[in-house]
Amino acid sequence: MTVPINGQLARIDAPALVDLLGRWSQADGSLYRLLAGRLGRLADTGELPAGLRLPPERELADALSVSRNTVATAYQLLRDDGMAQTRQGSGTRIVPHRTTPGAVHRANGYFTSMLETSPAIDLTMAAVDCAPQVAAALDDPSSLLSAPERRALTAGTGYLPYGHRELRAALASLLTSRHELDTSAEQIVVTTGGHQAIDLVIRCELMPGQAAVVEDPTFPGVLDSLQRARARLVGVPPGDAARLAAAVATHSPALVYLIPTHHNPVGSVMPADTRQSVVALARQHPEVTFVDDVTLAEIALPDAPGPVAGVPGVPLAALAPDLPNLVTVGSLSKLYWGGLRTGWVRAPAGMVARVAAAKAAADLGSTAYQQGVVAALIAAQHDSIVTWRRTWVSQRFAALAAALRSSLPSWTWAVPSGGLTIWARLPDGAGTVDSSAFAQAALRRGVAIVPGRLLSTGGGSDGGRSHVRLAFTQSPELLREAATALAGV
Ligand SMILES: Cc1ncc(COP(=O)(O)O)c(C=O)c1O
Repeated sequence: MTVPINGQLARIDAPALVDLLGRWSQADGSLYRLLAGRLGRLADTGELPAGLRLPPERELADALSVSRNTVATAYQLLRDDGMAQTRQGSGTRIVPHRTTPGAVHRANGYFTSMLETSPAIDLTMAAVDCAPQVAAALDDPSSLLSAPERRALTAGTGYLPYGHRELRAALASLLTSRHELDTSAEQIVVTTGGHQAIDLVIRCELMPGQAAVVEDPTFPGVLDSLQRARARLVGVPPGDAARLAAAVATHSPALVYLIPTHHNPVGSVMPADTRQSVVALARQHPEVTFVDDVTLAEIALPDAPGPVAGVPGVPLAALAPDLPNLVTVGSLSKLYWGGLRTGWVRAPAGMVARVAAAKAAADLGSTAYQQGVVAALIAAQHDSIVTWRRTWVSQRFAALAAALRSSLPSWTWAVPSGGLTIWARLPDGAGTVDSSAFAQAALRRGVAIVPGRLLSTGGGSDGGRSHVRLAFTQSPELLREAATALAGV
């Protein structure tokens, strides 16, 4: 936690600092130098502002899984460089020096680590390789589109805040046929990935200080967007309709965000009766926008328990087509390729207009030409891409699951029905488990994993501290290697 005093951050606790540090230990050199170097850089960019008190040496050492001496020497280096000062009784503080105050924002540490290259086996990103059908279409659009069709894609200015007409229609037919959610092209706004879809809805629906209810744990991107929008975060356990109803009644949120089908990170599918309860709640609270994220809905694991033919579980909006406060967001990133950056918002007319206005203000529209290629891909290849991707994902899941069972039998996790991640609970050792410290130690064994706190609202007794998220998107060989390395932590 960071504690503000007079608008300034007065102190930062060890877990929050660990998030900011990212993969600090993934370079050559002694740990204390790497740590001092990273702290100095954060002070330079203003992310650790002047006056901020750093955590006590022992607390930071525990959180980083290093010796106290490593932290003490790093703090000494900072003092030697004139970046920090230590006073008896008031700890070690960053001292004033040239900074860029605009750099100060509380990014979720998950995204901070995306900015770095590191040699670690990366189990943090639930991101997939490009499907071969997609690669072929991008390589040679003429395989899907005739010359006049291709020429039509470059007609006009190319600024399309609602999205390309053909792609809006293709996404609408996808939702209608694959998700049983009757949709017209006019109900779709094309976005730059699912991430922007969520972000735009938040911008449209939530004012600073209002509450937002999310599942805890949840997709870290939504936490980041909500924090930037200055929402008050309220977490409820995934799939707990009673807790959700209580949270809505108590906190009067502007927005509820849920991942009912193949929850990230848990991989669960919300049962049909729970979906009905959520829809009934939405009906009782027309002032609250309910966002249903179907980004992972088609990533089903064939060997998982539960129904897997097609999409197991229809979107909430399909259960109550008349409700104007049900919004659906999604993305092709997990089925096709994240590099397409193609997502969407599906909403009633009023919200479509608001989201398109927010999209225009954000970036004037996503890349126009590619939208035409993606529309043609959806029409011609969607089924074959889904089949290919499910095999791709299943092989990787099977490899990681088997490796965890043999190398880390004391870890507990529910078999996901779909999605790209395993949400694993670390065994209670002698002391209290801390998955952030574990992730730090894992990094030095060459494996990057997401500690649960980055997927948590920070509420509740645990705040994700006993869990880690493992994405099974690397090759089976690397996943096996990673499990062996994790067992050695
Ligand atoms: C549930 C969920 N929604 C949205 C996204 C973001 O998708 P995109 O890469 O299309 O921005 C992700 C990515 O991990 C996700 O898991």
